[in-house]
Amino acid sequence: MLHEKIAKMIDEQVNKEFYSAYLYLDFANYYADEGMDGFAHWYEVQAQEERDHAMMMRRYLIDNGVRVTSGAIAKPDKAFKTALDPLYAALEHEKYVTSLINGIYREAMAQQDYKTMQFLDWFIKEQGEEEKNAEDLIRKMKLFGSDAKGGLYALNQELAARVYTPSANAPAM
Ligand code: FEO
Repeated sequence: MLHEKIAKMIDEQVNKEFYSAYLYLDFANYYADEGMDGFAHWYEVQAQEERDHAMMMRRYLIDNGVRVTSGAIAKPDKAFKTALDPLYAALEHEKYVTSLINGIYREAMAQQDYKTMQFLDWFIKEQGEEEKNAEDLIRKMKLFGSDAKGGLYALNQELAARVYTPSANAPAM
């Protein structure tokens, strides 16, 4: 059985991960509307990954005898003026998610809940990768996004090639 506070934090994180999926789907909607289908695709894949994160946490709770709640998922409310804006919003959001995961980890440490710490290890690593991906995208967009010689087109094509692949050593869903 999980400590009540840890169970509640992970349960809330399930909701936050579903929100992340919804947020990235909203980014994809924005890019689709701008005709930037590669960027839209990249965020569709990102949304799938976020849904996976939610499902992994849900599974962990179920496997530990916790009743998962299904609260309302917040409405994405970011407004974008340029195609760079969602990329900054994504980095900001991932940093926020990292802080939430770290918070659960801190609580698990305080409770000497080694099982949850081990479960969260994958997410800590994943957050590092996601922050790096978000930073890389900003860097590439700044480099190529305003290149009239087709840099943005090439970047759009590169993002279109992203393939959804569930991580082999990820927690079960
Ligand atoms: Fe589920 Fe992007 O963190």
